[in-house]
Amino acid sequence: MEPEGFLKPDKSKFNVPKVGIGLMGYGFMGKAHTNAYKKISYFSWSWPPPAIPELIAICGRTKEKVEEASYKYGFQGYYTDWKKIVEDPRIDIFDNCSPDNMHAEPSIAAIRNGKNVICEKPLAMSVKDAKEMALSAREAGVKSMCGHNYRFIPGVRLAKEIIDRGYMGKIYEFRGKYLQPYGFNPSEKIENIWYATGTKSGVMLGIGSHVIDMARFLIGEIITVYGMQKIFNRKRPDAQGSIQDIEADESNTVVLEFKNGAAGTIETSCINSSRKNQHAWEIYGSRGSMHWDLEDLNHLYVNIADPAVKEIAGFTKVNVTEPIHPFSDMLWPPGHNMGWESGHVNELLHFIDSVVNDKPVEPYGATFYDGYVVQVIMDAIKKSSNEGKKINIDLEI
Ligand SMILES: NC(=O)c1ccc[n+]([C@@H]2O[C@H](COP(=O)([O-])OP(=O)(O)OC[C@H]3O[C@@H](n4cnc5c(N)ncnc54)[C@H](O)[C@@H]3O)[C@@H](O)[C@H]2O)c1
Repeated sequence: MEPEGFLKPDKSKFNVPKVGIGLMGYGFMGKAHTNAYKKISYFSWSWPPPAIPELIAICGRTKEKVEEASYKYGFQGYYTDWKKIVEDPRIDIFDNCSPDNMHAEPSIAAIRNGKNVICEKPLAMSVKDAKEMALSAREAGVKSMCGHNYRFIPGVRLAKEIIDRGYMGKIYEFRGKYLQPYGFNPSEKIENIWYATGTKSGVMLGIGSHVIDMARFLIGEIITVYGMQKIFNRKRPDAQGSIQDIEADESNTVVLEFKNGAAGTIETSCINSSRKNQHAWEIYGSRGSMHWDLEDLNHLYVNIADPAVKEIAGFTKVNVTEPIHPFSDMLWPPGHNMGWESGHVNELLHFIDSVVNDKPVEPYGATFYDGYVVQVIMDAIKKSSNEGKKINIDLEI
């Protein structure tokens, strides 16, 4: 017996489409993506969303852990073998939040089973794999997305709109950086240094990929790179007290040339004591300038340079949370500010809209093709550093 006055909604009145989600990996990104799917189902002011995500299945390797994750995150069930989740007919979107070395094979298998796939960045660990992923998605005609979530922060999208509307004039310079502190201490144990343990991907693949994507998103295609990669600490202790050799890059300083004539620099490293997660950029054009920093993500600093009003020249700090701003449908009221996780919510909502309503993922979302291009650029930076010369970016697809 229900308590008196308690009513249940008539579900038949709310005929919102559903989209089946299969998620691989329940760690940091698995949690961020699950949080996003849940918010998508209720958060927008203009409810309903294009479809309500149905959390069908999650996949990991260890039964006890993935069972707990499926319960905790609210998935209907779980798999302990990724080869099974990519075959589940109830799944429309396969979401790959596994480590870098597990991006290619499961994503391609899911694509070949007709799934739409979002895969975390970097798209792969090699250009060969990234190319195969991009070509597979193209051939299968499914939607693909590479997890460049920072495109979906309102301040970043506003910056793109400002550039595209010509308010910056001709773009002269992009100066991007992504700095973290994890490896600055030579005595830090290797297990605490994400870029040197696990897949040993290095800093460029891990966080440099985000800055390269940001540069392409905001400014355009990159045609040459001149890079210097450094490993400052070639030997590090592990938890057992042994000393291990380090081969993963820990610092990158790169000069870029864009197709539209702009110049650029990218710095990305993990030896920056006191920096937490500084993903930041500055843009300088013939009519103005802008800068943005993930550690202050609600604000975009903009200057539309007008020589007639010298007295107030300088950056205006814009709180990008007003109804006129991008993604306002997914924001709290003005000034109530958003957090890092909102980028993932907006990103996955965009992907679901693309899948359900057959809209293009690009230009606002990064596709597998974009992930492939970023991979080619990262490879060229490594080559440039090894050979000590400028490298042209040659795309094969
Ligand atoms: N976009 C971003 O802001 C962002 C931030 C951090 C990490 N990432 C990327 O997300 C991916 C995952 O990173 P993370 O920090 O969540 O890692 P994590 O170690 O926290 O989680 C990885 C998950 O994958 C699972 N896994 C590993 N191998 C598997 C296999 N063979 N089969 C099934 N499951 C397997 C693990 O059990 C774990 O649940 C990486 O590619 C990373 O580069 C993106």
